[in-house]
Amino acid sequence: MNIELWNALNRSDLPVQNVGLSWLQRKNIQLDILRLDLLHHEISGNKWYKQKGHLEHAFAHGYSTALSFGGAWSNHIHALAASGHHLGFSTIGVIRGERAENLSLTLQDAERLGMRLHFVSRKDYREKHTEEFQNQLLADLGVSASDVWIVPEGGSGALGVKGCEDILPAGRINPTDYQQIWLAAGTGATTAGVIRSAPESVEIHGVAVLKGADWMAGDVAQHLPEGRTGWQIETEYHCGGYGKTTPDLLSFIRFFEEESGIPLDPVYTGKMMLGLFDAVNTGAVPEGSRILAIHTGGLQGARGYVF
Ligand SMILES: Cc1ncc(COP(=O)(O)O)c(C=O)c1O
Repeated sequence: MNIELWNALNRSDLPVQNVGLSWLQRKNIQLDILRLDLLHHEISGNKWYKQKGHLEHAFAHGYSTALSFGGAWSNHIHALAASGHHLGFSTIGVIRGERAENLSLTLQDAERLGMRLHFVSRKDYREKHTEEFQNQLLADLGVSASDVWIVPEGGSGALGVKGCEDILPAGRINPTDYQQIWLAAGTGATTAGVIRSAPESVEIHGVAVLKGADWMAGDVAQHLPEGRTGWQIETEYHCGGYGKTTPDLLSFIRFFEEESGIPLDPVYTGKMMLGLFDAVNTGAVPEGSRILAIHTGGLQGARGYVF
């Protein structure tokens, strides 16, 4: 185990960048971006925070291998493979669908980083959380349950949420300086961890990147103390659904990067920033506010898109 790297990944001096763009200046709004994407060149973004609680648990209980699930462009699979390689533990990626002749760049990286890839049909993949599927999976892989810690898809679950409580302390910021905090949400686990570590005076906005995400607020609430208010899930900025894009989204991402020098990805951070842009323009963000946006990474997955 590479303790030096473990400590470096738990740093509390990540860059917080102030961006002065015209659409913000018009409303006298200050925007700071917490750059989780700059954490490490391969272990990037919220994925580290979602993994770390699982890894702590796995190491403390003597597991030698972490196994998890994902699709061909999964940020989670990529970050887990990278953590295994750089921190020094074995990894197995159970991948949805047949093995393609030309692997995605994500899966090519994962193999290069030493992850063992195991492909399962889409039908079987839907059963991944069941005990029966997992027992059969371990048998097919020829590994023992006492060696392999199973991390849920995306690094979610209570341990994933717990790790995300360390996101705000990762930058030199005082959360009470902000009126609102914005971040992208897929399962809502990262949002739940951020809410748990933030003062109730700061409004937290999780931008759902998938369609019909009315369920997400309920999932987030399960991880919060009863009656915790001061947060909401924005469900209108999915741009057609998970992984879907629109010409407006892609041109906004290009424009944002040109103006600020900060790259965004089309699956998560681009939709979050587009949501914030819209909320600023419609007046949902009060003039004169100070806002923190969390850059949750995902840039490796952006290689699957043509801009
Ligand atoms: C880059 C990026 N941002 C945000 C999220 C959303 O995280 P969560 O599923 O915890 O809501 C993900 C997915 O985990 C992600 O890969």
